[in-house]
Amino acid sequence: MSSDLGFNKIAGALLATGLAVIGLNQLSGIIYKFEPAKKPGYAIAIVEDTGGPAEAADVIPDWGTVLPAANVTAGADVAKKCQSCHNLASGGPNLTGPNLFGVEGRKPGTHAGFAYSSAMTDFGAKHPTWTYDELYVFLRGPQQDISGTKMTFVGLKKPEDRINMIAYLRTLGDAPPPIPAPNPKAAAPAAGAAPAAAGAAAPAPGAAPAGAPVAAATGAPAAATPAPAKAPAAVAANPGNGGGK
Ligand code: HEC
Repeated sequence: MSSDLGFNKIAGALLATGLAVIGLNQLSGIIYKFEPAKKPGYAIAIVEDTGGPAEAADVIPDWGTVLPAANVTAGADVAKKCQSCHNLASGGPNLTGPNLFGVEGRKPGTHAGFAYSSAMTDFGAKHPTWTYDELYVFLRGPQQDISGTKMTFVGLKKPEDRINMIAYLRTLGDAPPPIPAPNPKAAAPAAGAAPAAAGAAAPAPGAAPAGAPVAAATGAPAAATPAPAKAPAAVAANPGNGGGK
């Protein structure tokens, strides 16, 4: 009888211990379960944040430095993204977008036979021609640069893509704007940058602080992340609108 009681006590103790172990396991299972769920959320924020510093260098390049060094062949490759909507040949048709032959130096929103948005014709009223600066800003995020444009293209985020594209467009025109003389002073800070983006860090001489549209270009995808440093960093990139007014 007494040995039965002892056995029951031991069995009870074992059972209690077992339950406690199981309980701990499940508890830690729950804790562990919640951990990974948090991490991707943070990881996404970090990934978007890294866009900040990269974009901070995305200011108007020194055209006299970067255009002669640009990769026109790479630009022709980038242009494939445009050709679903734009014909690039001299005398070619308008498609979803206007023919782009000779667009550099052309007054925005004026190619014959194309029904532009009022946003684009308004832009043209304020900007006598498409300059390299204005194309650089526009191509980064068309809708952010010219709110209401019909060009529903997301934009070319990489500065070198835009530089190469602009260099390629120069070859598609009878009278592209001249390449300005290089400004070694403006280009100097780019020495430490990647070769492809040489000069991208150089602020243009008349860079106006009216950069809101371009800041918006980066603000859109980053809106969910707490990255207040982004907007001011990108602001410097938009002399396109400010400079030509
Ligand atoms: C989804 C179609 C589409 C794609 C892709 C596209 N565009 Fe456009 N683009 C348009 C439309 C539409 C307009 C006219 C915009 C308006 O009237 O607001 C336009 C206008 C332009 C203009 C202004 C032309 C002018 O006569 O003032 C330029 C410059 C331009 N696009 C360059 C490009 C480049 C460079 C690319 C490729 C990197 C590109 N576009 C890709 C549809 C597109």
